[in-house]
Amino acid sequence: MTSSVEQSRKAAEALSYLSGFGNQHSSEAVPGALPIGRNSPQRAPLGLYAEQLSGAAFTEPRAHNRRSWLYRIRPSAAHPPYHRIDSGGITGAPFTESTPDPNRLRWNPLPEPEAGTDFLAGLWTLGGNGDATQRTGMAIHLYAANASMTDRVFGDADGELLIVPEHGGLLLRTEFGLLRAEPGHVALIPRGVRFRVELLDAYARGYVCENYGQPFTLPDLGPIGANGLANPRDFLAPQAAYEEVEGPVEVVNKFCGNLWSATYDHSPLDVVAWHGNHVPYVYDLRRFNVMGTISYDHPDPSIFTVLTSPSDTPGLAGVDFVVFAPRWLVGEDTFRPPYFHRNVMSEYMGLIEGAYDAKAEGFVPGGGSLHNMMSAHGPDRETFDKASAADLKPQKIDDGLAFMFETRWPVTLTPQAAHAEHLQRGYDDVWLGLAKNFRP
Ligand SMILES: [Fe+2]
Repeated sequence: MTSSVEQSRKAAEALSYLSGFGNQHSSEAVPGALPIGRNSPQRAPLGLYAEQLSGAAFTEPRAHNRRSWLYRIRPSAAHPPYHRIDSGGITGAPFTESTPDPNRLRWNPLPEPEAGTDFLAGLWTLGGNGDATQRTGMAIHLYAANASMTDRVFGDADGELLIVPEHGGLLLRTEFGLLRAEPGHVALIPRGVRFRVELLDAYARGYVCENYGQPFTLPDLGPIGANGLANPRDFLAPQAAYEEVEGPVEVVNKFCGNLWSATYDHSPLDVVAWHGNHVPYVYDLRRFNVMGTISYDHPDPSIFTVLTSPSDTPGLAGVDFVVFAPRWLVGEDTFRPPYFHRNVMSEYMGLIEGAYDAKAEGFVPGGGSLHNMMSAHGPDRETFDKASAADLKPQKIDDGLAFMFETRWPVTLTPQAAHAEHLQRGYDDVWLGLAKNFRP
């Protein structure tokens, strides 16, 4: 283990958090740094600069309004011009370089990156939809990294980033403080928030949903009641923590799909106190309160929604984040794995650990599958045969953690995903040999 990983681990072990989803949190790293009773006093405490970070238009209804006030050593405005840099493997919407593909597609994990690849350099865009300039749609990225970001930070003006680690822990040093995200957790970095990713293991790999649309929120529960699915208090925001670093720090800004860079003479992770509700957070997917049938039939997978980005049409999400967590299956006279279906929504699935109950093989941790709008999919032959013949005793599914980014628009691939070495050839074969059983 390198000394930098050890240092990051030490920092990660000491963390404490603020609990609650969408709360008006407040935190100060130095007592007295947070003004009381006003946001922008004539002179902010301790010689700090007051700055508002707006994640919603000023005039959006209170229930949707998001902003935070930051009290920092230098204002964000103090920076030199940004210039375009090579974007590497990351691109943004609109995705126009490939023809949208109706085929079922599946990928193996990303290959190991070259030595010295950090989180930002290791981002690789699979595809997406919408248009970052219109703040609609989403992008699916993967990452593979073997080095911590040093002397540079990243911020995404295009959307919020939902990071889903699959291998290796991450320490996210954000403007708001530090978050630890291990495999099985998800971390959310709101639009525009600067952060640096340090590795807690030699190698890190995972998935990122970049959401251009309305910020992720908790789904309504309807008849489920006041509790269940992802419970608000399990979402954890950081405590204020700042660094006072003089010297060159590269700030990379993703803006309308491209990366821009400026070299600051100080670290922008210099926020000493903050308050507000436009904040990063982590959530442990194992805390998800799984609902399901206690009579018959497999419920629609929307019952597993952790977070949803609503659109202007009620019930129609720009993107949903869905988890297939350990659970009991007890349905009587029921085909228990996910059913065969065709869906107007487009589904990208990934696997964090173990196996997924609709696929016996080929769907591996770090890999992913895409079932685009109306493409027919469901259990593979082996799963179908087994589940159709199974003795329907109560059964615990506890050998895997899979997730889905489900989006209202078809996903168009990047050329690098459409022609990737690690794209599986012959994925369709998993549905071959589903025998004709019809006996009129
Ligand atoms: Fe599906």
